Amino acid sequence: MPKIVTLKKILNNSYIQAYLKTADNNFAAIGYKEHGFRHAKFTSKFAGIVLDSLRYKARDGELARIAGYLHDIGNAISQTDHAQNGAVLVLDILEEIGLHYKDIFSIVGAIGSHEDKDVNPPDPIAAAVILGDKTDVHHTRVRSNDLSSMDKHGKVNYACQRAFLKVNRNPRVISLELTIDTKICPVMVYFEIFLDRIKLCQRASKVLNCEFVLYINGDKFL
Ligand SMILES: [Fe+2]
Ligand SMILES: [Fe+2]
Repeated sequence: MPKIVTLKKILNNSYIQAYLKTADNNFAAIGYKEHGFRHAKFTSKFAGIVLDSLRYKARDGELARIAGYLHDIGNAISQTDHAQNGAVLVLDILEEIGLHYKDIFSIVGAIGSHEDKDVNPPDPIAAAVILGDKTDVHHTRVRSNDLSSMDKHGKVNYACQRAFLKVNRNPRVISLELTIDTKICPVMVYFEIFLDRIKLCQRASKVLNCEFVLYINGDKFL
């Protein structure tokens, strides 16, 4: 019998914990920034905040929190195609936990589409996951303090002292406010690395009938 499953049940699942731990270990091994429990929790939290703040149904918010938590689980297999791999991976787990098929397809669709650059996210849940995911830039994701060993991704994250996602319902505006230490990384490098992510956030905001606005160090860039 299908159940109404909440994020709490997902957090306690040992397979999911193992996949997330493996995904982060794989990234650590190749020197990439944090991609484990912290990033999963951040994405989950902000995906939920986006839909709750815009007064979507409570269940949509919870599905966004679940999909946000699971979105990068496919990195346990490989970074290449991790979105699609992750969607397939969680199918069986969610079925075993007992979610309703309608909920499973919402979650799987959001996970599978979260890196799609050329099309709009299929629904508000997928859009919220993208906003939670792509706005996670922060110095706490960097694994070392050694600037000389960091690639551009590492430097941009290391330089970001504050990232705040603000959701306004009237007028419908989603703002990302960043504080970047420009002694560590010029703002241009942020754009070089994050332009694709900004475009994804714009597409996602559009699906939610919102404008996406970006502030860096108090200046409005979008
Ligand atoms: Fe991803
Ligand atoms: Fe992610």
